[in-house]
Amino acid sequence: MKAVAFIACVLVVPLVAAAATPPTHKAAAKTKPAVSSSTSITLPGDLSFDFKPGAGSRAATTYCLTCHSSAYVSTQPPLDKAHWDAEVTKMRKAYGAAIPDKDAGEISDYLTQTYGKKS
Ligand code: HEC
Repeated sequence: MKAVAFIACVLVVPLVAAAATPPTHKAAAKTKPAVSSSTSITLPGDLSFDFKPGAGSRAATTYCLTCHSSAYVSTQPPLDKAHWDAEVTKMRKAYGAAIPDKDAGEISDYLTQTYGKKS
């Protein structure tokens, strides 16, 4: 009977030890590397994110498109300079648009020229 127990130990102990051994780097090398893929989406109709070219369009693109599309601007009635000034001020003061002072005037000039009522 002692011989049977001894044989059982000899056979079982290495099996348990092998099962508990963490996988080696060879096993890890067989797994496929992570592959990143890109996908694209189509936005609905009038969500355009560009302004008409012109002096100041770069500043408008930089500061006016972080929260909404350019359609918010291009669908307004032709506003005069005072109204565009007020609009830019509203975006800054009421909605917290981070537009430096030096760019605010250039933007409202651009909006008046491009989307506004020229005086
Ligand atoms: C910090 C976010 C933010 C930025 C940046 C921003 N806006 Fe807005 N804008 C808003 C919000 C919020 C509304 C209101 C949306 C609504 O009522 O559905 C809005 C609405 C508007 C409207 C619609 C009329 C109105 O007064 O509600 C115009 C025009 C407009 N923005 C122009 C601009 C221009 C021009 C700039 C750049 C000078 C600008 N926005 C930058 C947040 C922003």
